[in-house]
Amino acid sequence: MNTARTVLVTGGAGFIGSHTCVELLERGHDVITVDDHSNSSPVALDRVQKLAGRPLTAYTADLRDRAALDAVFAAHPIDAVIHFGAKKAVNESTEIPLEYFDVNVGGTSALLRAMGAHGVHDLVFSSSCSIYGETTRVPLTESDPPRPTNPYAHSKWMGEQMLADVCRLLPELRVAALRYFNPLGAHPSGDLGEDPTGVPNNLLPYVAQVAVGRRERLRVFGDDYPTPDGTCVRDYIHVLDVAGAHCLALDRLVEGLQVLNLGTGVGSSVLDVVAAFEAASGCSVPYEVQGRRPGDVAVLVADPSRAESVLGWHATRDLTAMCADAWRFQRANPAGYAG
Ligand code: UFG
Repeated sequence: MNTARTVLVTGGAGFIGSHTCVELLERGHDVITVDDHSNSSPVALDRVQKLAGRPLTAYTADLRDRAALDAVFAAHPIDAVIHFGAKKAVNESTEIPLEYFDVNVGGTSALLRAMGAHGVHDLVFSSSCSIYGETTRVPLTESDPPRPTNPYAHSKWMGEQMLADVCRLLPELRVAALRYFNPLGAHPSGDLGEDPTGVPNNLLPYVAQVAVGRRERLRVFGDDYPTPDGTCVRDYIHVLDVAGAHCLALDRLVEGLQVLNLGTGVGSSVLDVVAAFEAASGCSVPYEVQGRRPGDVAVLVADPSRAESVLGWHATRDLTAMCADAWRFQRANPAGYAG
C-alpha cells in the first residue's frame, strides 16, 4: 500500500505540517510544501530535512494566490495534497472572523480549483474537533451533529461541507477529513516543535514559554465549567500520532469523503496539563484564573474508534510523553526557531 508519491503539503512549515513532512519523507514520499509563513518559520523546513535526511521543495505563497498555486502544480507531478494551511486560533477568530473565512474557506476553495485544473484527486484535509461545539456528548463520534461556536470552527465545518458537495459531484475525488482534537508535543529529537508567532493562543506553547521564563504566568480561562476541577477538558494528542495518521490516511483514501476523529479518547483539564508539564520539566508554571475565553466549550473528547477500524491507527503516546517532548524542544530552542 505504501507506494512512494509526490505529496503537496500546504502549511508544511507549521506545527503539524512540519512533523508530517518528516514522516512522509521517512516513508519515501517526495514532498513539496507551500506556506506563507504567517505563523511558521522556514527554519522548521531546514530541520525537517535534517531529521529525515532527505530534501524537500519549499514554496512561499498564499494559497489564495491562484497563479502561484498553478505554478507549483505545473512544476511537479503532484499525486496528492495534505492541506494544513489555515488559521487556527479560536479567540483570534472571534476578533477577525472574516479573515478566518477568507483564509480557511477561500484557501480551501482555491486549492480545490487548482487540484481540479491539474487532475489531482487525492486530498487529506485538516479539520477540527472544534466543529462539534457546545455538546454534552462524551466521547464524540463522527456522527454527532456539528454545532460550531466560533468563526474558526465554522470555517472548518464549511470546509468539510464544501468537500462533501464536491465529492458528490466529482466521484473521482478521494478525500479524508481528519478532525484533530488537541495536538501537543514535539519531535523527540528536540529539533522540531510548536513555535507560534507572537503571543501563543494555544495552551501548551503558552505553558512551555512560562516554564522557560519567557512569560510570567499562564492565564487559565475559566474555572467554573462543569468539569471535575472547573477548567476545560480536552483530548490532547501527540503531534507525531497525528502525523502518522496522515500518512496512513493517504495510503487508504477511497472515492468520496471519509471523516475521521483523531484523538486518544482520554480527557485532561487545563490544570492536568499544567501539572503534567511541571512534572516533565521540573519547572513551576504559575497561573492565574481569568474569565472564560469567548467561543470555548467545557469538554471535547474523541471516540477514535472509526480511525482505528479504517486506518488501523490509534494514538500511542500519553500526556507525559507530550509534555516531555514539548519541553525538550522548548529547552533546546528557548526563543523558538528564531533563537
Ligand atoms: N487555555 C488557557 N490559557 C491559554 C490558552 C488556552 O486556559 O493561554 C485553555 C482554553 O481556554 C481551553 C484549553 O486551554 O480550555 C485549550 O485551548 P487551546 O487554545 O490550546 O485549544 P482549543 O481547545 O481552543 O482548540 C483549538 C482548535 C483545535 C486545535 C487546537 C490546537 O479548536 O482545532 O486549538 O491548535 F487543535
